[in-house]
Amino acid sequence: LQHLLTIDGLPREIIMAIIDRAIPFAKPVRGEAKKLPLMRGKSVFNLFFENSTRTRTTFEIAAKRLSADVINLNINSSSTAKGETLLDTVDNLTAMQADMFVVRHAESGAPHLIAQHLAATGGNHIHVVNAGDGRHAHPTQGLLDMYTIRHYKKDFSNLTVAIIGDILHSRVARSQILALTALGVPEIRVIAPKTLLPTGIERMGVRICNDMNEGLRGVDVVMTLRLQNERMQGALLPSPQEFFKVYGLTPERLALAKPDAIVMHPGPLNRGVEIDSAVADSRQAVILPQVTFGIAVRMAVMSMLAEK
Ligand code: CP
Repeated sequence: LQHLLTIDGLPREIIMAIIDRAIPFAKPVRGEAKKLPLMRGKSVFNLFFENSTRTRTTFEIAAKRLSADVINLNINSSSTAKGETLLDTVDNLTAMQADMFVVRHAESGAPHLIAQHLAATGGNHIHVVNAGDGRHAHPTQGLLDMYTIRHYKKDFSNLTVAIIGDILHSRVARSQILALTALGVPEIRVIAPKTLLPTGIERMGVRICNDMNEGLRGVDVVMTLRLQNERMQGALLPSPQEFFKVYGLTPERLALAKPDAIVMHPGPLNRGVEIDSAVADSRQAVILPQVTFGIAVRMAVMSMLAEK
């Protein structure tokens, strides 16, 4: 694997290899024992052109645990604000002997563009990891979600998974559906109003449910998503209150799922919009373990790329 840009086309074997590689990284260790030499001498540049708490921080922790040098470019105080283009920025960081770019960008395709540019300019040795691009993909989120499901459910082959909320604007939902499909999950339901579903979503092999009660009945895994207002310019949208009334995950609705169903959310949470606090803070919620597993999964991805 040279880059991780999307889960689309990633074979089951590679997804499982990443999940398996992450297992030892997820074991709790203290102090210096956390540090592994797998990326010693490598320079990882975190390029976050969009806000992030979990992804940026866990990539930084992961790279440091692999002994890499990490440089977090502060986009707001960088020369991007003076009009420097994305690719000129990349050329300059390449000149600083970058080994890996971790890229989040509001434009779908920005990490692909960087990877293509590197290939065309002799930067073939530099790896690109997509940390979320527009509505397109968030592959490490999809992978850490698969790690979380395997941790709690062991096997993908008999699961029913429901993804609720703003599927239309969600790069996370797309990566989750692709990963769940590659891993052989037999039933993936998407629960959303028609206005928050992309046209043609059924071609991804999902069952569409516009009704929460129908969609949640008997599921093993519930994945909630926030309304991604930053990508909704001009759209006719439900208000947060309207959305919660019809699609909010409340304890009453969750009771329709299997009693041992787990509740996941990529974060950030909007309590009282897509999820009730009574669910977010319940023993069925595995939202904070998702964050912790994100470190191990990102260590697995980065160390695998760095081997090439
Ligand atoms: N899940 C996720 O991408 O969260 P951040 O936006 O905080 O990175």
